[in-house]
Amino acid sequence: MLAPFLFMATVRRSPCKVNLLLNVLGKRPDGFHELETILHPIPVFDELSFTKGGAGINLTCSEQSLPVDHRNLVYRAAALFLEAAGIPEGVHIHLQKNIPLAAGLGGGSGNAAVTLSAMNELFGTALPPQRLEELGSQLGSDVPFFLQNTPALGTGRGERVQPLGWFPALADAWVLLIHPGFGISTPWAYQNLARFPDALNGDPGRSTRLLARLGAAELNQVGPELYNSLEAPVLEKYPILRLYQDFLLEQGADAALMSGSGSTTFALVSSQTVAERILEHFGSRFGDQIWTASAKLGPTA
Ligand code: C5P
Repeated sequence: MLAPFLFMATVRRSPCKVNLLLNVLGKRPDGFHELETILHPIPVFDELSFTKGGAGINLTCSEQSLPVDHRNLVYRAAALFLEAAGIPEGVHIHLQKNIPLAAGLGGGSGNAAVTLSAMNELFGTALPPQRLEELGSQLGSDVPFFLQNTPALGTGRGERVQPLGWFPALADAWVLLIHPGFGISTPWAYQNLARFPDALNGDPGRSTRLLARLGAAELNQVGPELYNSLEAPVLEKYPILRLYQDFLLEQGADAALMSGSGSTTFALVSSQTVAERILEHFGSRFGDQIWTASAKLGPTA
């Protein structure tokens, strides 16, 4: 019989994010959009487990609608890592999905980042951090953000990440996440910005103004500086998301915004009590079938 430690899996939680700011600064020649974005980690998690063995990549997933081949970002991250590190061994990976898909929460990007860093550990730290960042940015614009653990400013297409400290204004804050039950394709959202020239060509500098508010200790001063250019096409097509925001603000949320390219709406609130009260009222108003989550903002690692 083989010793049990040979079967021990490396288990990692994979957090999600919201964009407190997503300011599009124009379309680039390579087809991507130039951004200034402020990303905040959220302690709502998928879970991944990794075990060395077998040949190639053997991925299983709790979510039946997700493919487990090269179309899956976890599979692609594992393949890219093994190739870059020149490792001939195989790996078994299981992905327990809790974060909704195509939700603007970066679930898949987080899974890819966790895969890169967990496999680097599992196979004996084969690649330096900078190389992991390069691999991450090849996998997706949001992946480098998830290779670190703090709020961050993203520039370029979002992949150039400057870590920031924790924001005083959010020190006691809770976040609510509300997913309407449908997903939104990120390429669709960016393509449809073309019909909204003001949103497509935002003025730079919103991040400086928002960071000033986040640096002061007043949660109720933050809301007016939150902004997401992609709301222009998405809220036009899905007006229910505007109704969610209006309701959350009426119910006492300090701020409400769409995250990423949607479809998740998030709200910032002052306490757990307020979070629970609003979610209860939200359920009565919009039905219990909608996916919701709440969490205290703070470290995810
Ligand atoms: O980088 P990622 O794979 O997440 O991007 C998905 C799609 O979103 C891209 O193919 C592109 O259509 C769009 N996108 C963009 N500008 C960005 C980020 C994403 O146009 N900064």
